[in-house]
Amino acid sequence: MRAFTYAGHPTRVVFGAGTIGRLPEELSRLGATRALVLSTPGRADLAQRVRELLGPAAAGEFTGAAMHTPVEVTEHALAVVRESAADCLVAVGGGSTTGLAKALSVRTGLPQVVVPTTYAGSEATAVLGETENGVKTTRSAPEIRPGTVLYDVDLTLGLPVPVSVTSGINAMAHAVEALYAPETDPVTDQLALRAIELLAEALPRIADGPGDRAARANALEAAWLAGTCLGSVGMGLHHKLCHTLGGSFGLPHAPTHTVVLPYAMAHNAPAAPDAMSRIARALGAPDAPTAVHDLIRRLGAPTNLADLGLAASKLPRAAELATATPCPNPREVTREGIAQLLADAFEGRRPAPAEPLADSLHTLLGQVTASLAGAPDARVRQLLTDLTRRLHGFVADNDLSDDEWRYAIDFLTRTGQQCSDTRQEFILLSDTLGISSAVDLLTNSRTAESTPSAVLGPFYVEGPPPLPDGADLAEGLTGTPMYASVRVTDLDGKPLAGAVADVWQSNEDGYYDVQLPDIDGPQLRARFRADDEGRIRFRSILPSEYPIPEDGPVGRMLAAVGRHPYRAPHVHFMISVPGRHTLVTQLFVAGGAHIDDDTVFGVKDALVVDFPEHHGPTPDGRPAEGPWRSLDYTFRLAPAPTPGDR
Ligand code: BEZ
Ligand code: FE
Repeated sequence: MRAFTYAGHPTRVVFGAGTIGRLPEELSRLGATRALVLSTPGRADLAQRVRELLGPAAAGEFTGAAMHTPVEVTEHALAVVRESAADCLVAVGGGSTTGLAKALSVRTGLPQVVVPTTYAGSEATAVLGETENGVKTTRSAPEIRPGTVLYDVDLTLGLPVPVSVTSGINAMAHAVEALYAPETDPVTDQLALRAIELLAEALPRIADGPGDRAARANALEAAWLAGTCLGSVGMGLHHKLCHTLGGSFGLPHAPTHTVVLPYAMAHNAPAAPDAMSRIARALGAPDAPTAVHDLIRRLGAPTNLADLGLAASKLPRAAELATATPCPNPREVTREGIAQLLADAFEGRRPAPAEPLADSLHTLLGQVTASLAGAPDARVRQLLTDLTRRLHGFVADNDLSDDEWRYAIDFLTRTGQQCSDTRQEFILLSDTLGISSAVDLLTNSRTAESTPSAVLGPFYVEGPPPLPDGADLAEGLTGTPMYASVRVTDLDGKPLAGAVADVWQSNEDGYYDVQLPDIDGPQLRARFRADDEGRIRFRSILPSEYPIPEDGPVGRMLAAVGRHPYRAPHVHFMISVPGRHTLVTQLFVAGGAHIDDDTVFGVKDALVVDFPEHHGPTPDGRPAEGPWRSLDYTFRLAPAPTPGDR
């Protein structure tokens, strides 16, 4: 068990494409009318654009922000703040500009709106690093943290690949160090893992196609998540080394991250095995430090300190400075350890994997994914590569034995052998593992107003017999009579006349017709067409809970893990209307058995419906010997997805 303290931070975050247009609105929220726009000299064009956007709300600009926030630069800018009588600071750019905004804000109390254009993440922290006389010092205070951060993906599209990569790895470093920070917490862990996953996927795509908007959006989102980690927990050895090398030896901030990160990770790996295996999993690789090294190499970013201009003669001094003051790190920081780390980073040697086996696994995975890299269809390439990575990760993480893998293959073989025209054991497997419901959620549950969908199940038969309004689906079968009167409408409640509804359900004993060899032809299944009011009426019997087929490998799997095979009582519907998203769903009997533990995870609250009990005359006047039930429900169909939507 671990103990932790967690505090969320109150930054307002606006994220999207074209969000720079919302800057005037954000300033109004702050009550600011005179914004000083800050940038580096290289982004003066952007500062100018922002001034134009702000019109009279722009009090001036200062375009001299510089790396490592030199105090002299801050003092120049302070004079401009005073001359312009600014009441707010707007920083557009990377970490240097954000640093300047923080330095000015802490001296003047002015609010900051930060518009990051790189992935450095400084906007999410309450930390300010400044350099004076060649020495970098950092301090942290709540008032340093920018109050508003506006992320605009469009502003990152033109970020040159080298900066995208180095600042992206900077972001990854925040996430990595958050995972082994001594005071980490579960929220920060999840943010960090997601950031690593997003960056590992997005950065190669950005390196190959800098205009890839989806990849840019993912990288920017990751930058925010990783920045939030940086702002929440203390950073370890990696950040310490980067500060030392940047502040005292003038090395460029972001490229220093790409060189140091794999070595800091390799150094810490023996003291943080859990963090490393979670990082490795997020990267889809067997060994985290080597995977990060290989990613950086693949991205064409710097991998050794020599290339960054550090003289070998400076290494001992760097080791001395880096160990002079402590940092929160999982492994003890000693002069000898750091000297070795820096020597490796100077050369740019691939860090040794945790063990030779991991290296072989990594090489093997690399060979397999490389063999897929030429697949012409991008989606096929992505899905197959990711599946391969995860399967290799599964095998490695669980140290799978030969017998276990053979058993898995045999299980899948038996599952396939169980499939026939009337039995689909693979669907059953997908259903009982919740995969069908997960795909269903992703595919069909994107509008809150439409009726939720539910899994199709293996018992749907195409082309059920058309029956007229009011017909009896259960002619001649025993069971509690059930009179259904359902409506099909659009999202505004307008009837969808002519809607076609296929209805199917099990009999009183819990069997579908296709499961009963003695039944010839369809039973308890029909196709209805809605009238002008969008209404469909039919008579049937009340469905009851039933076990999914248990005599195959899936049934044996359920038994092996102590799970019951029951589905909650339900009626299936598949409703189609031209121009609408076809709705495949089920209505569950409120109060029925297994509503809370349906074996295929198919129950959704909005689909649990009262089937009230009645006595006396039935809607169609047919005699009922005992009580009968009714079903009244309105299905709301969403418009069909437009081409290109998924
Ligand atoms: C069904 O509701 O028909 C069903 C769904 C998933 C697995 C088995 C049966
Ligand atoms: Fe069913």
